[in-house]
Amino acid sequence: MPQSSFPAFRVLFSNDAILRRTHELVRCIEHDLRVAGAKEPPCLVAVIEGARPFARQVQKLLAGNLPVYEVRASSYGTGTVSSGKVALSGGAEIPARGRHVLLLEDIVDTGRTIKALQEHFLGQGALSCRAATMLSKPSRRVVQVPLDYVGFEIPDEFVIGFGMDLDGRYRELPDVVVYEQDVERAFQQAVAH
Ligand code: PRP
Repeated sequence: MPQSSFPAFRVLFSNDAILRRTHELVRCIEHDLRVAGAKEPPCLVAVIEGARPFARQVQKLLAGNLPVYEVRASSYGTGTVSSGKVALSGGAEIPARGRHVLLLEDIVDTGRTIKALQEHFLGQGALSCRAATMLSKPSRRVVQVPLDYVGFEIPDEFVIGFGMDLDGRYRELPDVVVYEQDVERAFQQAVAH
């Protein structure tokens, strides 16, 4: 979909910049695998929905056309108050035991999702469970988790695009942009006229 189909949100990272940075991350991942003398390729796990575009890029750039497994994680609690607990679903088929798992995320915010997934896969017998994320918001961190590969660190702004949504919208936007309600309203009014 062309960019003009969307409100003119402020671009934080263009699609080109994301792809270039993902390329650099993949080179780091491959370097680390060589140094570690890994005999087997990593077991790639995308945390859906948001991480799909990033995971597709990693898969494309990483040697071996490895499968990307998917797992869903959601915070739950009562009403609008998050309990801080993370529920995992799907991914029963992921062959984590005895493998080096590489989690692929679009964004790490509080860190709870990555922590829950690392505990889950290490508990299943993974040799290691590293994390690669396109974006990280360090100022929002509640639990400290080691992030092995970070595309960009960002301030605490509401970002959408390249997989990230607002109520299910804007995931297909090619760039990472900052959501602003005024910009969205102006666009909707212009389209309505
Ligand atoms: C986002 C993101 C991570 C999680 C990070 O998912 O994709 O999985 O939040 O947050 P945390 O560090 O605070 O745990 P989201 O819940 O928006 O679901 P989605 O990917 O399906 O949009």
